[in-house]
Amino acid sequence: MPTTLPVFFFSHGSTAMLQNRTAAAAYWEQVGRQALEQGVERIVMMGAHWETMGEKILVSANPAPPKQPVAWVDPARYVDFDLNPDLELASEVVGLLSDAGFDAALEPKFEQIHDTFMILKWMFPGGKSLPHVIVSHNARFDPHFHMKIGAALRPLRQANTLIIGSGGAVHNLYRNNWAQVIRYRDNLAQERPPEQWAVDFGEAFKDVVTQNTGPALRRGMARLMQHPQYRDAQGTDDHFMSALFAVGAAGSVEDTGKPNYAGAETWELLNMRNSQFQFGDWPQEPHVTPINAASAMIEVDAK
Ligand SMILES: [Fe+2]
Repeated sequence: MPTTLPVFFFSHGSTAMLQNRTAAAAYWEQVGRQALEQGVERIVMMGAHWETMGEKILVSANPAPPKQPVAWVDPARYVDFDLNPDLELASEVVGLLSDAGFDAALEPKFEQIHDTFMILKWMFPGGKSLPHVIVSHNARFDPHFHMKIGAALRPLRQANTLIIGSGGAVHNLYRNNWAQVIRYRDNLAQERPPEQWAVDFGEAFKDVVTQNTGPALRRGMARLMQHPQYRDAQGTDDHFMSALFAVGAAGSVEDTGKPNYAGAETWELLNMRNSQFQFGDWPQEPHVTPINAASAMIEVDAK
């Protein structure tokens, strides 16, 4: 039996999550540490900010992608980070997607956006990412289309490749308290409790992940788009597609009975719930990425 690596879904939150070391950032660091320890060689990620029109799916293939500027973050925190893109893997991903019937192509003019390089920066504090590629999502926001992309790439889990979705479990930019970050550069203050819809939808998301495995996980995640509080929790669909991508890669018949886990969580801007999830076990102990309370202490403007 080949080793099968877990899949992750990360809620990346606002750009300010790159500035401060939060519980979520400490968790991303821990996932990166485990990736290195457990022999991960490459990463495939779908974010929330690179979308393609029509039927097309693009795969990052720029050997030196520029990083798009990040609001509220000192450029010194990310400009020198070595993204280490993997062009060979990009061609492999296009091949797998094409074999599955997708209209997939390489994008040599790709520019990297904070939703993906923020995660890599925290995962690899040494300053250089593991080789990786980014897969675009599709602007029609069809849940099944995105699950099929994940399913098509599932074999990579058995080829030392970590599959990650970067989006948001509760992510509605129209319902955040932006005043606190605009006036005080403070994205983490919670002056009052989050609104009930943010709590409720976050719990529903967590229940779908932790109470389902295999194809039931896929069905549950797709069904969340019909949840009465979905539109409260997702102002637009773009930050939900990578969750469907993740369960596409983690919800096959072979995944039935293999547990999925809720990880660290950081509330931000009152109503944004940046919760993290692991699908399936790491091959070696610890099989579940620990939520380390000590390392999860918030360090504002961590260097
Ligand atoms: Fe985002």
